[in-house]
Amino acid sequence: MAPYTQTFKLNTGASIPAVGLGTWQASQPGEAASAVKTALQAGYRHIDGAWIYGNEPEVGQGLKESGVPREDVFVTTKLWCTKHDDPEKALDESLHNLGLEYVDLYLMHWPLPMNPNGNDHKFPRNEDGSRDIVGVYEEGKELPFIATWKRMEKLLDTGKVKAIGVSNVSVPWMKALLKEAKVVPAANQIELHPYLPQHDLVEFCHSNGIICTAYSPLGSTGSPLLSDADIKRIAEKHNTGPGNVCIAYQVHRGVSVLPKSVTEGRIKSNFEDVSLDEEDMKTLNGLCKERAKRYVKPDWGSQCLNLGFEDWDKY
Ligand SMILES: NC(=O)c1ccc[n+]([C@@H]2O[C@H](COP(=O)([O-])OP(=O)(O)OC[C@H]3O[C@@H](n4cnc5c(N)ncnc54)[C@H](OP(=O)(O)O)[C@@H]3O)[C@@H](O)[C@H]2O)c1
Repeated sequence: MAPYTQTFKLNTGASIPAVGLGTWQASQPGEAASAVKTALQAGYRHIDGAWIYGNEPEVGQGLKESGVPREDVFVTTKLWCTKHDDPEKALDESLHNLGLEYVDLYLMHWPLPMNPNGNDHKFPRNEDGSRDIVGVYEEGKELPFIATWKRMEKLLDTGKVKAIGVSNVSVPWMKALLKEAKVVPAANQIELHPYLPQHDLVEFCHSNGIICTAYSPLGSTGSPLLSDADIKRIAEKHNTGPGNVCIAYQVHRGVSVLPKSVTEGRIKSNFEDVSLDEEDMKTLNGLCKERAKRYVKPDWGSQCLNLGFEDWDKY
Protein backbone atom coordinates (compact mmCIF):
# COMPACT_ATOMS: atom_id res chain seq x y z
CA MET A 1 0.00 0.00 0.00
CA ALA A 2 1.19 3.54 -0.76
CA PRO A 3 2.12 6.06 1.96
CA TYR A 4 -0.08 9.12 2.48
CA THR A 5 1.00 12.11 0.42
CA GLN A 6 -2.24 14.12 0.58
CA THR A 7 -2.36 17.61 2.08
CA PHE A 8 -5.17 20.08 2.85
CA LYS A 9 -5.05 23.85 2.34
CA LEU A 10 -5.21 26.10 5.35
CA ASN A 11 -6.84 29.53 5.11
CA THR A 12 -3.30 30.99 5.26
CA GLY A 13 -2.48 29.34 1.92
CA ALA A 14 -0.11 26.85 3.56
CA SER A 15 -0.63 23.10 3.28
CA ILE A 16 -1.16 20.78 6.22
CA PRO A 17 -0.36 17.09 5.67
CA ALA A 18 -3.47 14.90 5.88
CA VAL A 19 -1.83 12.46 8.32
CA GLY A 20 0.49 13.42 11.16
CA LEU A 21 1.98 11.77 14.25
CA GLY A 22 0.45 12.42 17.70
CA THR A 23 2.80 12.60 20.67
CA TRP A 24 0.52 12.71 23.74
CA GLN A 25 1.51 10.05 26.28
CA ALA A 26 4.79 9.36 24.48
CA SER A 27 6.24 9.88 27.93
CA GLN A 28 8.81 7.18 28.67
CA PRO A 29 12.37 8.49 28.26
CA GLY A 30 13.42 8.28 24.62
CA GLU A 31 9.94 7.34 23.34
CA ALA A 32 8.93 10.62 21.73
CA ALA A 33 12.34 11.20 20.11
CA SER A 34 12.39 7.72 18.65
CA ALA A 35 8.74 7.88 17.46
CA VAL A 36 9.25 11.25 15.76
CA LYS A 37 12.45 10.09 14.06
CA THR A 38 10.82 6.82 12.90
CA ALA A 39 7.75 8.66 11.61
CA LEU A 40 9.69 11.27 9.66
CA GLN A 41 11.93 8.63 8.12
CA ALA A 42 8.79 6.67 7.15
CA GLY A 43 7.43 9.72 5.30
CA TYR A 44 5.27 11.57 7.87
CA ARG A 45 5.58 15.35 7.51
CA HIS A 46 3.35 16.54 10.34
CA ILE A 47 4.18 16.21 14.05
CA ASP A 48 1.60 17.24 16.65
CA GLY A 49 2.87 18.22 20.07
CA ALA A 50 1.95 20.37 23.06
CA TRP A 51 3.73 22.02 25.97
CA ILE A 52 1.59 20.05 28.43
CA TYR A 53 2.78 16.69 26.99
CA GLY A 54 6.15 17.41 28.63
CA ASN A 55 8.12 15.95 25.73
CA GLU A 56 8.83 18.94 23.46
CA PRO A 57 12.63 18.56 23.88
CA GLU A 58 12.39 14.96 22.65
CA VAL A 59 10.15 15.98 19.75
CA GLY A 60 12.84 18.49 18.78
CA GLN A 61 15.51 15.82 19.15
CA GLY A 62 13.58 13.43 16.89
CA LEU A 63 13.17 16.17 14.29
CA LYS A 64 16.92 16.79 14.23
CA GLU A 65 17.92 13.13 14.26
CA SER A 66 15.55 12.28 11.38
CA GLY A 67 17.69 14.25 8.96
CA VAL A 68 14.54 15.66 7.32
CA PRO A 69 14.96 19.41 6.63
CA ARG A 70 12.99 21.66 9.01
CA GLU A 71 11.15 23.39 6.17
CA ASP A 72 9.75 20.04 4.96
CA VAL A 73 8.01 19.32 8.28
CA PHE A 74 4.76 20.81 9.60
CA VAL A 75 5.16 21.24 13.37
CA THR A 76 2.21 21.97 15.65
CA THR A 77 2.35 22.79 19.35
CA LYS A 78 -0.16 24.21 21.81
CA LEU A 79 -0.67 26.95 24.37
CA TRP A 80 -1.56 25.48 27.76
CA CYS A 81 -4.51 26.73 29.85
CA THR A 82 -2.40 28.32 32.62
CA LYS A 83 -0.51 30.38 30.04
CA HIS A 84 -3.34 32.32 28.35
CA ASP A 85 -2.11 35.62 29.88
CA ASP A 86 1.06 35.67 27.81
CA PRO A 87 0.98 33.44 24.70
CA GLU A 88 4.25 34.87 23.36
CA LYS A 89 6.13 33.91 26.52
CA ALA A 90 4.59 30.42 26.36
CA LEU A 91 5.45 30.12 22.67
CA ASP A 92 9.07 31.16 23.36
CA GLU A 93 9.31 28.39 25.94
CA SER A 94 7.95 25.83 23.48
CA LEU A 95 10.31 27.01 20.73
CA HIS A 96 13.22 26.76 23.17
CA ASN A 97 12.12 23.22 24.14
CA LEU A 98 11.77 22.17 20.51
CA GLY A 99 14.99 23.88 19.40
CA LEU A 100 13.07 25.63 16.62
CA GLU A 101 12.79 29.19 15.32
CA TYR A 102 9.09 28.86 14.45
CA VAL A 103 6.14 26.47 14.49
CA ASP A 104 3.80 25.95 11.55
CA LEU A 105 0.70 25.98 13.73
CA TYR A 106 0.16 27.22 17.29
CA LEU A 107 -3.12 26.11 18.84
CA MET A 108 -4.97 27.23 21.93
CA HIS A 109 -5.16 23.79 23.59
CA TRP A 110 -8.48 24.41 25.40
CA PRO A 111 -10.64 27.55 25.29
CA LEU A 112 -10.48 27.81 29.08
CA PRO A 113 -7.91 29.98 30.84
CA MET A 114 -6.83 28.44 34.16
CA ASN A 115 -5.31 30.38 37.08
CA PRO A 116 -1.63 31.02 36.26
CA ASN A 117 -0.92 31.60 39.97
CA GLY A 118 -2.93 28.70 41.31
CA ASN A 119 -1.88 25.75 43.46
CA ASP A 120 -0.38 23.92 40.47
CA HIS A 121 1.30 25.39 37.39
CA LYS A 122 -0.36 22.84 35.07
CA PHE A 123 -3.65 21.71 36.64
CA PRO A 124 -4.65 24.20 39.38
CA ARG A 125 -7.60 23.46 41.64
CA ASN A 126 -9.67 25.54 44.03
CA GLU A 127 -9.84 24.64 47.72
CA ASP A 128 -13.09 22.74 47.15
CA GLY A 129 -11.33 20.53 44.59
CA SER A 130 -12.99 22.11 41.56
CA ARG A 131 -10.85 23.21 38.60
CA ASP A 132 -9.37 26.71 39.06
CA ILE A 133 -10.68 28.28 35.86
CA VAL A 134 -10.25 32.03 35.43
CA GLY A 135 -13.24 34.03 34.26
CA VAL A 136 -15.84 31.29 34.03
CA TYR A 137 -18.43 31.93 31.34
CA GLU A 138 -21.16 34.36 32.34
CA GLU A 139 -24.30 34.95 30.32
CA GLY A 140 -24.05 38.15 28.28
CA LYS A 141 -20.28 38.57 28.81
CA GLU A 142 -17.54 37.88 26.29
CA LEU A 143 -16.15 34.38 26.64
CA PRO A 144 -12.73 34.70 28.33
CA PHE A 145 -10.86 32.72 25.66
CA ILE A 146 -11.66 35.42 23.11
CA ALA A 147 -9.20 37.77 24.86
CA THR A 148 -6.60 35.01 24.63
CA TRP A 149 -7.28 34.69 20.92
CA LYS A 150 -6.72 38.43 20.43
CA ARG A 151 -3.31 38.01 22.10
CA MET A 152 -2.55 35.04 19.87
CA GLU A 153 -3.39 37.05 16.75
CA LYS A 154 -0.40 39.27 17.54
CA LEU A 155 1.93 36.26 17.31
CA LEU A 156 1.52 36.27 13.53
CA ASP A 157 3.62 39.46 13.38
CA THR A 158 6.52 37.88 15.23
CA GLY A 159 7.45 35.32 12.57
CA LYS A 160 7.47 32.65 15.28
CA VAL A 161 4.19 31.08 14.06
CA LYS A 162 3.04 30.50 10.50
CA ALA A 163 -0.58 29.98 11.52
CA ILE A 164 -2.72 30.06 14.66
CA GLY A 165 -5.70 27.93 15.57
CA VAL A 166 -7.78 26.48 18.37
CA SER A 167 -8.62 23.12 19.82
CA ASN A 168 -11.70 21.77 21.58
CA VAL A 169 -13.94 24.60 20.39
CA SER A 170 -17.63 23.80 19.89
CA VAL A 171 -20.03 25.36 17.36
CA PRO A 172 -21.52 27.98 19.75
CA TRP A 173 -18.10 29.01 21.05
CA MET A 174 -16.69 29.12 17.51
CA LYS A 175 -19.56 31.39 16.45
CA ALA A 176 -18.77 33.71 19.38
CA LEU A 177 -15.08 33.72 18.44
CA LEU A 178 -15.72 34.43 14.76
CA LYS A 179 -17.80 37.50 15.68
CA GLU A 180 -14.77 39.06 17.44
CA ALA A 181 -11.76 37.61 15.66
CA LYS A 182 -9.64 39.58 13.19
CA VAL A 183 -7.96 36.34 12.16
CA VAL A 184 -10.10 33.28 11.43
CA PRO A 185 -8.49 30.25 13.12
CA ALA A 186 -6.65 28.09 10.59
CA ALA A 187 -7.63 24.89 12.40
CA ASN A 188 -9.78 23.41 15.15
CA GLN A 189 -8.27 20.24 16.62
CA ILE A 190 -11.03 18.09 18.11
CA GLU A 191 -11.79 14.51 19.07
CA LEU A 192 -12.99 12.73 15.95
CA HIS A 193 -13.45 9.04 15.18
CA PRO A 194 -16.31 6.85 13.96
CA TYR A 195 -17.97 6.86 17.43
CA LEU A 196 -17.69 10.68 17.61
CA PRO A 197 -17.77 12.10 14.08
CA GLN A 198 -19.15 15.50 15.21
CA HIS A 199 -20.66 16.05 11.76
CA ASP A 200 -22.17 19.46 12.63
CA LEU A 201 -18.94 20.86 14.05
CA VAL A 202 -16.85 19.62 11.12
CA GLU A 203 -19.32 21.06 8.63
CA PHE A 204 -19.45 24.39 10.46
CA CYS A 205 -15.66 24.72 10.59
CA HIS A 206 -15.12 23.69 7.00
CA SER A 207 -17.80 26.07 5.75
CA ASN A 208 -15.91 28.88 7.53
CA GLY A 209 -12.53 27.95 6.06
CA ILE A 210 -11.29 26.28 9.26
CA ILE A 211 -9.62 22.89 8.82
CA CYS A 212 -10.61 20.25 11.35
CA THR A 213 -7.91 17.99 12.71
CA ALA A 214 -8.86 14.69 14.34
CA TYR A 215 -7.35 13.83 17.69
CA SER A 216 -7.75 10.39 19.26
CA PRO A 217 -8.70 9.04 15.79
CA LEU A 218 -8.24 5.46 17.03
CA GLY A 219 -10.26 6.14 20.17
CA SER A 220 -7.08 6.67 22.25
CA THR A 221 -5.46 3.98 24.39
CA GLY A 222 -7.32 0.68 24.81
CA SER A 223 -10.08 1.68 22.44
CA PRO A 224 -12.92 -0.68 21.45
CA LEU A 225 -12.97 0.96 17.99
CA LEU A 226 -10.22 -1.37 16.83
CA SER A 227 -12.34 -4.44 17.62
CA ASP A 228 -15.61 -3.00 16.26
CA ALA A 229 -17.17 -5.64 13.96
CA ASP A 230 -18.14 -3.13 11.25
CA ILE A 231 -14.73 -1.44 11.21
CA LYS A 232 -13.01 -4.85 11.13
CA ARG A 233 -15.22 -5.95 8.22
CA ILE A 234 -14.25 -2.84 6.22
CA ALA A 235 -10.58 -3.45 7.09
CA GLU A 236 -10.74 -7.06 5.87
CA LYS A 237 -12.41 -5.94 2.65
CA HIS A 238 -9.43 -3.64 1.93
CA ASN A 239 -6.84 -6.06 3.30
CA THR A 240 -5.74 -3.59 5.97
CA GLY A 241 -6.12 -3.03 9.73
CA PRO A 242 -8.99 -1.38 11.66
CA GLY A 243 -6.66 1.46 12.68
CA ASN A 244 -5.99 2.22 9.01
CA VAL A 245 -9.74 2.39 8.38
CA CYS A 246 -10.18 4.93 11.22
CA ILE A 247 -7.35 7.06 9.83
CA ALA A 248 -8.58 6.88 6.22
CA TYR A 249 -12.11 7.75 7.40
CA GLN A 250 -10.92 11.21 8.47
CA VAL A 251 -8.84 11.84 5.35
CA HIS A 252 -11.82 10.92 3.17
CA ARG A 253 -13.98 13.54 4.93
CA GLY A 254 -11.36 16.27 4.46
CA VAL A 255 -10.08 16.13 8.02
CA SER A 256 -6.38 15.98 8.87
CA VAL A 257 -5.68 13.23 11.36
CA LEU A 258 -3.15 12.50 14.11
CA PRO A 259 -2.73 8.84 15.05
CA LYS A 260 -0.30 8.43 17.95
CA SER A 261 2.02 5.50 18.30
CA VAL A 262 5.41 4.85 19.85
CA THR A 263 5.58 1.37 18.26
CA GLU A 264 7.73 1.27 15.14
CA GLY A 265 5.55 -1.20 13.22
CA ARG A 266 2.34 0.73 13.97
CA ILE A 267 3.89 4.10 13.15
CA LYS A 268 4.75 2.71 9.74
CA SER A 269 1.52 0.77 9.06
CA ASN A 270 -0.69 3.69 10.19
CA PHE A 271 0.81 5.72 7.36
CA GLU A 272 -0.46 3.36 4.64
CA ASP A 273 -3.19 4.96 2.56
CA VAL A 274 -6.52 3.11 2.18
CA SER A 275 -9.08 3.94 -0.46
CA LEU A 276 -12.52 3.74 1.18
CA ASP A 277 -15.64 3.65 -0.98
CA GLU A 278 -19.01 5.35 -0.55
CA GLU A 279 -20.55 2.38 1.18
CA ASP A 280 -17.69 2.25 3.73
CA MET A 281 -18.11 5.97 4.42
CA LYS A 282 -21.86 5.56 4.88
CA THR A 283 -21.31 2.77 7.41
CA LEU A 284 -18.60 4.70 9.28
CA ASN A 285 -20.62 7.92 9.29
CA GLY A 286 -23.54 6.09 10.91
CA LEU A 287 -21.77 4.12 13.67
CA CYS A 288 -22.24 6.92 16.20
CA LYS A 289 -26.01 6.51 16.11
CA GLU A 290 -25.78 3.50 18.42
CA ARG A 291 -22.22 3.64 19.69
CA ALA A 292 -21.54 7.32 20.40
CA LYS A 293 -18.60 7.68 22.74
CA ARG A 294 -16.17 10.38 23.77
CA TYR A 295 -12.81 9.22 25.12
CA VAL A 296 -11.10 12.47 26.16
CA LYS A 297 -13.20 13.81 29.03
CA PRO A 298 -11.19 16.05 31.36
CA ASP A 299 -13.21 17.47 34.26
CA TRP A 300 -13.33 20.91 32.62
CA GLY A 301 -14.55 19.56 29.27
CA SER A 302 -18.30 19.82 29.72
CA GLN A 303 -17.93 23.60 30.12
CA CYS A 304 -16.71 24.16 26.61
CA LEU A 305 -17.58 21.15 24.49
CA ASN A 306 -20.97 21.00 22.91
CA LEU A 307 -21.01 17.61 21.34
CA GLY A 308 -24.44 17.83 19.82
CA PHE A 309 -25.56 15.38 22.49
CA GLU A 310 -27.82 16.28 25.37
CA ASP A 311 -26.12 14.34 28.09
CA TRP A 312 -22.38 14.83 28.71
CA ASP A 313 -22.20 12.03 31.31
CA LYS A 314 -23.71 9.51 28.93
CA TYR A 315 -20.75 9.83 26.56
N1 LIG B 1 -5.97 18.84 21.35
C1 LIG B 1 -6.24 17.98 22.31
O1 LIG B 1 -6.88 18.32 23.32
C2 LIG B 1 -5.79 16.56 22.14
C3 LIG B 1 -6.34 15.56 22.97
C4 LIG B 1 -5.91 14.23 22.77
C5 LIG B 1 -4.99 13.95 21.77
N2 LIG B 1 -4.44 14.94 21.00
C6 LIG B 1 -3.44 14.65 19.92
O2 LIG B 1 -3.94 13.60 19.12
C7 LIG B 1 -3.02 12.50 19.15
C8 LIG B 1 -3.73 11.18 18.99
O3 LIG B 1 -4.66 10.95 20.02
P1 LIG B 1 -4.44 9.88 21.19
O4 LIG B 1 -3.00 9.80 21.52
O5 LIG B 1 -5.40 10.23 22.25
O6 LIG B 1 -4.96 8.52 20.62
P2 LIG B 1 -5.01 7.64 19.29
O7 LIG B 1 -4.05 8.08 18.29
O8 LIG B 1 -6.44 7.53 18.96
O9 LIG B 1 -4.57 6.23 19.89
C9 LIG B 1 -3.30 5.99 20.42
C10 LIG B 1 -3.28 4.59 21.04
O10 LIG B 1 -3.50 3.61 20.02
C11 LIG B 1 -2.38 2.72 19.95
N3 LIG B 1 -2.20 2.43 18.52
C12 LIG B 1 -1.67 3.23 17.56
N4 LIG B 1 -1.72 2.65 16.35
C13 LIG B 1 -2.29 1.44 16.53
C14 LIG B 1 -2.60 0.37 15.67
N5 LIG B 1 -2.34 0.43 14.38
N6 LIG B 1 -3.20 -0.75 16.20
C15 LIG B 1 -3.46 -0.82 17.53
N7 LIG B 1 -3.19 0.18 18.41
C16 LIG B 1 -2.61 1.30 17.91
C17 LIG B 1 -1.23 3.46 20.58
O11 LIG B 1 -0.34 2.53 21.16
P3 LIG B 1 1.27 2.61 21.05
O12 LIG B 1 1.67 4.06 21.15
O13 LIG B 1 1.71 1.80 22.23
O14 LIG B 1 1.65 2.00 19.74
C18 LIG B 1 -1.94 4.27 21.65
O15 LIG B 1 -2.21 3.46 22.80
C19 LIG B 1 -2.31 12.70 20.48
O16 LIG B 1 -1.13 11.94 20.59
C20 LIG B 1 -2.10 14.19 20.49
O17 LIG B 1 -1.03 14.56 19.65
C21 LIG B 1 -4.85 16.24 21.17
